[in-house]
Amino acid sequence: MHCAAPFPHSNPGVQLTVDLGPRSYPIHIAPGLLARAGELLAPHLGGGRVLVVADATVARLHGETLLAALRAAGIDAVLTSFAAGEPSKTLATAERLWTACAEARLDRSGCVIGFGGGVSGDLAGFVAACWMRGVRFVQIPTTLLAMVDSAVGGKTGVDTAAGKNLVGAFCQPACVLADPTLLATMDPREYRAGLAEVLKYGVIKDPAFLAWLEANAERLRERESDAVAHAVHESCRIKAWYVQVDEFERGPRAELNYGHTFGHALETEAGYAAYLHGEAVGIGMRMACALAARLGVLRDAGLPARQDALLRRLGLPLTHAPRDAGETARLAARTALDKKSAKGRVRFILPVEPGRMELRAVEDVAAVEDAFRSALG
Ligand SMILES: NC(=O)c1ccc[n+]([C@@H]2O[C@H](COP(=O)([O-])OP(=O)(O)OC[C@H]3O[C@@H](n4cnc5c(N)ncnc54)[C@H](O)[C@@H]3O)[C@@H](O)[C@H]2O)c1
Repeated sequence: MHCAAPFPHSNPGVQLTVDLGPRSYPIHIAPGLLARAGELLAPHLGGGRVLVVADATVARLHGETLLAALRAAGIDAVLTSFAAGEPSKTLATAERLWTACAEARLDRSGCVIGFGGGVSGDLAGFVAACWMRGVRFVQIPTTLLAMVDSAVGGKTGVDTAAGKNLVGAFCQPACVLADPTLLATMDPREYRAGLAEVLKYGVIKDPAFLAWLEANAERLRERESDAVAHAVHESCRIKAWYVQVDEFERGPRAELNYGHTFGHALETEAGYAAYLHGEAVGIGMRMACALAARLGVLRDAGLPARQDALLRRLGLPLTHAPRDAGETARLAARTALDKKSAKGRVRFILPVEPGRMELRAVEDVAAVEDAFRSALG
């Protein structure tokens, strides 16, 4: 997919901004930022009350630090929490959070802060988008996935019986505050799963960042703080570019779904408990490479091996173990149900070379099945 908007060179010293005209917002990234949350957020809060929305784990680990930082800056904040995990991302939880908004007497001058992983951010943003038809919203991500992906871009929502993330709203935050030191308390497997999304950015948009990952994979996997801060900065820079050029995902922003069509099929077929999202996306990226090679889209024959090596070094699984012989056919059928399929044709984001992708509608079911087979353990 070609986009005429220039893609800026990396400049790690520069403050990141998502440039959306009057709805532009800064992304602050630095170790230790949480303690400065009050001073950094005060200009964005509108002077009203603040409701911090966190899951119970994040509330227990980091809630007091955030509340103390806000109160030290004279910000009137209360925290409400919900049970950690994807099953909480529902309308029922959102309704409890709207009750919390009422109890906190949050009016139009108020602000909701999403404090946690993607579940907290998606829920809090949806609650903010609907409460009084929209109040201010701030994201303070605490998982790697949330720092590099979900906190930036304004997609919010809940899961319903109809499917994951089908009900929601675009609600851009007024500010994003990412403190990489918070990742020290993350479960190692959850952390590594987030690294798949980091690798995705290098492959889809930025060969220089891909090369940096090759030079720093072990440091990143071991959570060395300067490496983590750089990876979060570069990932946010690339995500911000996609959001700026295509806020509502009608064009290039779809490239962010590289590996996701295959990954979603794996997650649903294997059961959501089997894979973390990032793990399934990593395997899905291998399958996308295989499909690109088969369809003659892939020009850089060295890319699959580079991507495999990085997945391995970052501690991510490379293969999927099928339960029976019929699984590849079932997986291929599942891709047809993907949100990105149109008029019966499944659309895949396929790599041409590092930094260049192609959106391809594919009708060749045998080719899709072969792509799934390419990464079976
Ligand atoms: N809005 C978007 O653009 C977007 C993009 C990608 C994913 N998502 C959504 O994000 C969600 C997944 O996000 P996630 O992986 O962050 O899941 P999550 O929010 O459930 O967090 C994962 C686990 O980590 C715990 N946790 C969070 N921060 C921690 C910390 N600092 N220390 C210790 N534990 C911590 C949480 O309590 C939770 O148990 C999905 O619902 C997905 O749909 C949204």
